[in-house]
Amino acid sequence: MDFPTSFIGHAFRHVVETGSTNADLARLADTDPNLPDGLVLLADVQTAGKGRQGRTWTSPPKSGLTFSVLLKPDVKPLRASTLPLVVGLAVARAVESLILNCPVGLKWPNDLLIEGRKLCGILCEMRAVGDTVRHIVAGIGINVNLPADAIPPDITSIATSLQIAAGHPFVRDEVLGVILRSLEETFCRWLDDDFPSLLEDIARYDLLRGNRVAIDRGAGLLSGTADGIAADGALLVRRDDGIIEPVYSGDAHLRKPTP
Ligand code: BTN
Repeated sequence: MDFPTSFIGHAFRHVVETGSTNADLARLADTDPNLPDGLVLLADVQTAGKGRQGRTWTSPPKSGLTFSVLLKPDVKPLRASTLPLVVGLAVARAVESLILNCPVGLKWPNDLLIEGRKLCGILCEMRAVGDTVRHIVAGIGINVNLPADAIPPDITSIATSLQIAAGHPFVRDEVLGVILRSLEETFCRWLDDDFPSLLEDIARYDLLRGNRVAIDRGAGLLSGTADGIAADGALLVRRDDGIIEPVYSGDAHLRKPTP
């Protein structure tokens, strides 16, 4: 497949069915260190799609896009930890260019939502040895051609698709091309200018900022008001005692304001 990019997707593999494109690509990259930067692995069906925080990712065959991109930036692991947000920003921009005035937003760290419903999930997995990043696998699952009546009843209130948002179906390969081009552009900006240069753009999509949130950090909940994203990618949460806490991992839940 030909994509309008200069390296991402130039090496491209397509499989009909696999467990998880993230797991496959990580395994391939571990065994072959010469695998090209920007290699994309696309699957029509995943039988063991991985989500964040040990969750799973499922989507009906061929209605969405499930793919992973191999990235090999020459940066330190700490800097690479901002990449999930960069990928989220890239996909948000791609969605906006596909659907004019689409109210797409980014829920830290990298869920994409439209009107409160999840459109896309992103899972970035890094392999580092000591202070060196070997590779990062950026996995993207996005609902494309799912009409409202094809969304399983148990998730109709929490899931959406490009088709639902736009009112028409899309050519999946074209959507993939738009996402890869946006990913390459955003990734190169991040490489050249670093993460803080993207913060203003990320803030435009930030769904949490100014809202009451509860962060599930495994060891208890942190409640407060989201106060934007820091230069190191942390979600800033202003606790009710006024102290601002940076959060580096966990799940953020929007809460109704306390009366
Ligand atoms: C999440 O929302 O928790 C992240 C979901 C990420 C799903 C994608 S689909 C392609 C790639 N392969 C996987 O196994 N997971 C990611």
